[in-house]
Amino acid sequence: MHILVTGGNGFIGSHLTERLLEAGNQVTIVDDLSTGQRKNLNRVENHPSLRVLHADLGNPELVHEVCKDVDAVYHLAAAVGVALIAQQPIQTIHRNIYPTQLLLEELRRIHLTGKQVTMFLASTSEVYGKNPKSIWNENDDLVFGATTKPRWSYGASKAIDEFLALACVRECGMNIVIGRFFNVVGPRQSGAYGMVLPRFIQAAIAGKPLMVHDDGKQERCFAHVSDVVAAVLSLMNTPRTYGRIYNIGADQPISILEMAKRVIQIVNPKSTVEFQSYSQAYDDDFEDIRRRVPDLTRLKQAIDYNPTFSLDDIIRDVWRSTIE
Ligand SMILES: NC(=O)c1ccc[n+]([C@@H]2O[C@H](COP(=O)([O-])OP(=O)(O)OC[C@H]3O[C@@H](n4cnc5c(N)ncnc54)[C@H](O)[C@@H]3O)[C@@H](O)[C@H]2O)c1
Repeated sequence: MHILVTGGNGFIGSHLTERLLEAGNQVTIVDDLSTGQRKNLNRVENHPSLRVLHADLGNPELVHEVCKDVDAVYHLAAAVGVALIAQQPIQTIHRNIYPTQLLLEELRRIHLTGKQVTMFLASTSEVYGKNPKSIWNENDDLVFGATTKPRWSYGASKAIDEFLALACVRECGMNIVIGRFFNVVGPRQSGAYGMVLPRFIQAAIAGKPLMVHDDGKQERCFAHVSDVVAAVLSLMNTPRTYGRIYNIGADQPISILEMAKRVIQIVNPKSTVEFQSYSQAYDDDFEDIRRRVPDLTRLKQAIDYNPTFSLDDIIRDVWRSTIE
């Protein structure tokens, strides 16, 4: 198959690209390197079935050109990371909505010619906002904070993408699967935009304190990128999933403080924990989500989903890849 991966130089996109090439597909990547890195594709850069275009996807001619002859699209390009969103809310909104709109318009045009191109849309657990339920399922309400807090623009912009994609399914019968990723971690994830595990591991390696925001009692579930990519591929290979939304990730919560302690225990027992307020880490307008746990029932009913990495395996893998 000929497959388009947007955001293929990014963290998840580069792992996905490797898997698609290994399976014998031809892959075209579009990535403007806004947060992605060339070196993420080092392992496959000379692969004869890979074409990489370093360009902004927010360009109708480019989108038209790269969608020609493709059989499937994995749309991962987006502005990601709470620090980036707090610093650049205009870019976040623009990057997360306009390219998705262009892609869907182009795929709809192709669909009307009688050809079906399957699409995976990468969404996020952020669309649940601060829903107070302890475990979130795909039909739960989206509960965003005030528009004066830029953080919610990320989840709201991804929610618009979901609405657009579902409208294409409803009105035109297009084959689209939406995956809401919960905290995905693993080799190549950058710590530059607020991602917690790479920040902790880099600090522990350097013998510096691990900076825990607020009281550290926020709970998250961490899934290894290999398990997440396997789930994405499996969903796309299962036609009954088309038109539906799936939570994707791990469902075993751990507090950020506990996570810091696990990193210290595994990577460098001499490191310590320090606490930082949200206003010191981001700004006075920052608002966080206390607990984020997915209900994976729908995913497990749809595909054979058996994550292989424990949290300690994940920490060791990220540590190993950071010092490599
Ligand atoms: N990592 C996570 O835990 C997580 C959680 C929830 C959702 N997601 C979603 O998964 C997807 C991939 O995230 P990631 O963690 O790999 O982040 P990432 O920043 O590593 O990857 C995003 C990639 O998209 C590229 N990009 C951004 N805007 C672009 C544009 N206009 N044109 C071309 N390329 C563009 C960036 O350069 C980058 O390579 C995103 O859609 C994100 O919203 C990730």
